[in-house]
Amino acid sequence: MPHASPYATALHDGLGYLVAAVLFGAFLLLRLCGKAAHPSILRATTAFGICVIGLLVSDLLVVQGARSAATYLRWISVFGEGLSILRLVAIGLFWVLLPAARVRPPRIAEDVTLGALAVVWVFIWLRENQVNVTGIVATSAVVTAVIAFSLQDTLGNVLGGMALQMDRSVCVGDWIKLDDLTGRVREVGWRHTAIETNNWETVVIPNSVLVKNRFVVLGRRQDQPVQWRRTITFRVDYRYPPTRVMEAVRYALGRAEIPHVSRKPAPNCVLLDFDESCGVYAVRYWLTEMLWPDITDSEIRTHVYFALQREGIPLSIPAQAVFVTHDTAERKSLKEEAAFQRRVTALLDVDLFHSLEPAELEAVARRLQPAPFTAGDVMTRQGAEALYLYILVSGHADVTVTGADGRQSRVTELGPGSFFGEMALMTGEPRQATVTARTDVECFRLDKESFEEVIRQRPAMAEEISRVLARRRTQLDAVLEGLDARARDARLSDAQADILGRIRRLFGLSE
Ligand code: CMP
Repeated sequence: MPHASPYATALHDGLGYLVAAVLFGAFLLLRLCGKAAHPSILRATTAFGICVIGLLVSDLLVVQGARSAATYLRWISVFGEGLSILRLVAIGLFWVLLPAARVRPPRIAEDVTLGALAVVWVFIWLRENQVNVTGIVATSAVVTAVIAFSLQDTLGNVLGGMALQMDRSVCVGDWIKLDDLTGRVREVGWRHTAIETNNWETVVIPNSVLVKNRFVVLGRRQDQPVQWRRTITFRVDYRYPPTRVMEAVRYALGRAEIPHVSRKPAPNCVLLDFDESCGVYAVRYWLTEMLWPDITDSEIRTHVYFALQREGIPLSIPAQAVFVTHDTAERKSLKEEAAFQRRVTALLDVDLFHSLEPAELEAVARRLQPAPFTAGDVMTRQGAEALYLYILVSGHADVTVTGADGRQSRVTELGPGSFFGEMALMTGEPRQATVTARTDVECFRLDKESFEEVIRQRPAMAEEISRVLARRRTQLDAVLEGLDARARDARLSDAQADILGRIRRLFGLSE
């Protein structure tokens, strides 16, 4: 019968101390490690407990005279004890000590270390139990070769998994593209890498495939935030100069608040190609959330569409399209008349213009230009120079203001029949607030010169506007300065007189 080894003796004879140390260590690990490590700690501690019971039973068997059974039970228990302790040591090293030293090895490193420690422990255990380790190593070389040959693929995957994790070419959370497959890496395991796609699928890729093939890690660039450049193309007829098209799109996208579109670098627009009948343009933007490529592409297309509409630039129709409408002069004038009536109706819906004579109203209507916006478009930006007065025909918009501390607060909502952009036009100051389309918004806009002309012809309107303006100004101040109702009322009457005076001076109107 083999005699007791020093290690085995330590694991058996110092049992009381060992149990206390392991329990204390497990308790510390449970406190210090994240929840993800708890099942492993509990499993290792339970295995240790079972081995301790095994040792106690082996002692009982000795007393009962069953010496041989006792010896085997003792061997196995000591072996299990050693493995459980090594597991706890590896957890302590990889979940507590290395993170404390700011070293974050890949997960596979923990498994490899534990595997290596386990092999060393097996050899020690075998030697301690008088087994000829050298003989095993020599004969096992042949066995290993046979196993390695038959497990070639599996070994390739395992080594691939180790390589991927060690050199960090793929990390959990990365978005990768392999052939026509795009998805987020959920797990890099020993044998495979699991990818979750936007179609709610999980694709399991053998690690050896990733190691042998070229794949793209989306949006990853040294020392840069994760963002992925996307290209959206559109076509516009040659009648419209490329500079105008690109400027309109750049301007609109630069101002719009579109979720998951990076501001740095900002979206840009280029003339990509000359097609048979139209110019091919491309908007390039940087996507910050890879989960939403299609939705964000669609948002960008919608903004491009509305930006071009505002500039009166239509998207190109395929050259093969055959038009069968006879655009006669009569039909044209009917269309123009309908558009004109729509503008008159828009003006009539706004209280401000009620005081105008029919002829004056028609004169203003002739100068209105359509200005459609899509949800998220910034229609006026606080601090910008004022060029237009806007009349909102349908849809809703939010008015927000940013205080000196940079905090943005919502002031109110504008709906159909309201106007905005009058403050800066009337006072000559920059825009006082930001107005953002909450839904798709149909607007008409009146340019600065036309607006000033209307005011000069109709000074009574200045008074009407000064009342609206004072109310809005006070509401802005109330939001910015947190005024209560009494302070607001006091501020309102002062503001109205002050604003009316300023408007009169600016427009050269008499008292
Ligand atoms: P302007 O300063 O030219 O540009 C921003 C516009 O937001 C402003 O004109 C007003 O038309 C509008 N605005 C500002 N404050 C309010 C408010 N309290 N209520 C409604 N509209 C407002």
